[in-house]
Amino acid sequence: MPGPGMIPADPPPWGGGGPGADGKGHTVRRFEGYAVMLTGAGRGIGEVTARRFADEGARVLITDQDGERAAKAAASIRADGGEAESLGCDVARRADAEAAVAHAVSSFGRLDVLVNSAHSCHVDTPLFEDQADDEWQQDIDITLGGAFRCSRAALPQLAAADGRGAIVNVGSVNGLQDFGNHAYSAAKAGLGSLTRTLAAHAAGRGVRVNLVAPGTIRTPGWDGREDTLRRAAEVYPLGRVGEPTDIAAAITFLASSDAAWITGITLPVDGGITTTNVAVRRAFGHLETPSET
Ligand SMILES: NC(=O)c1ccc[n+]([C@@H]2O[C@H](COP(=O)([O-])OP(=O)(O)OC[C@H]3O[C@@H](n4cnc5c(N)ncnc54)[C@H](O)[C@@H]3O)[C@@H](O)[C@H]2O)c1
Repeated sequence: MPGPGMIPADPPPWGGGGPGADGKGHTVRRFEGYAVMLTGAGRGIGEVTARRFADEGARVLITDQDGERAAKAAASIRADGGEAESLGCDVARRADAEAAVAHAVSSFGRLDVLVNSAHSCHVDTPLFEDQADDEWQQDIDITLGGAFRCSRAALPQLAAADGRGAIVNVGSVNGLQDFGNHAYSAAKAGLGSLTRTLAAHAAGRGVRVNLVAPGTIRTPGWDGREDTLRRAAEVYPLGRVGEPTDIAAAITFLASSDAAWITGITLPVDGGITTTNVAVRRAFGHLETPSET
């Protein structure tokens, strides 16, 4: 076992998502009778979260800009005995957002939970001065505007969900601190604000609105950047980067009746990274990592 301050670069034996890390085998079924719609859920955090909802009894509508990807994810849940539908939905388009909500209601007869997970992030433009207007607009419009459009379309249905209506926005630690990526970070910070204003607006209609702010999560978006993930793991206080199941656990908690008196919050799920200042700890010699010893 590593000593104090010794941070393993590989996922430690106690990490990696915990019980049900494969997204299967949950014995608690908090979402029997629920209908859940997720955006950007053809892969990554959205897909694993859809699987967790389905595993706990929900009927899920997996939407994604890439309709084939969404169909594959839904088929995989059905193959494991869950109830899942899919639909191509580009959250940049109001008509797509409205069609997705209508699809959920015609398939399931109701909509109880919306998870806004679709995002856009132009990671290949490191210099602020080089950021193009269309890149800026796309990151803001999909990451923040997409959640707005889908929430606007879903709100009447969520308000009719017998007090169990909930929206969970997928934000990011980028919305809380500097982790680079100007437009994406501004959009995620804006999503935190939308979470609070919409929570206040929708509370009287029995709808809760919360946000989960993940740290670095091992998803297909990181494919080919294993070195970056390994370096990131060294600075996370809990000694690893996150897994999609870590975020699915938080999203389903906030969507469930276990969180019945929680609304408007931002919940960092980030291995402790926003509680500390890695650069200062390193400067003071308080951060030991395997690569430094
Ligand atoms: N992976 C991380 O390290 C990390 C960290 C913090 C926050 N997040 C957030 O978690 C969420 C999911 O991230 P991920 O890494 O699982 O994503 P991902 O890249 O694995 O998948 C994103 C999905 O969104 C879809 N998508 C893209 N544009 C869309 C649009 N306009 N309309 C609908 N769908 C669209 C893509 O087709 C893709 O299937 C995002 O909101 C992201 O900002 C991720």
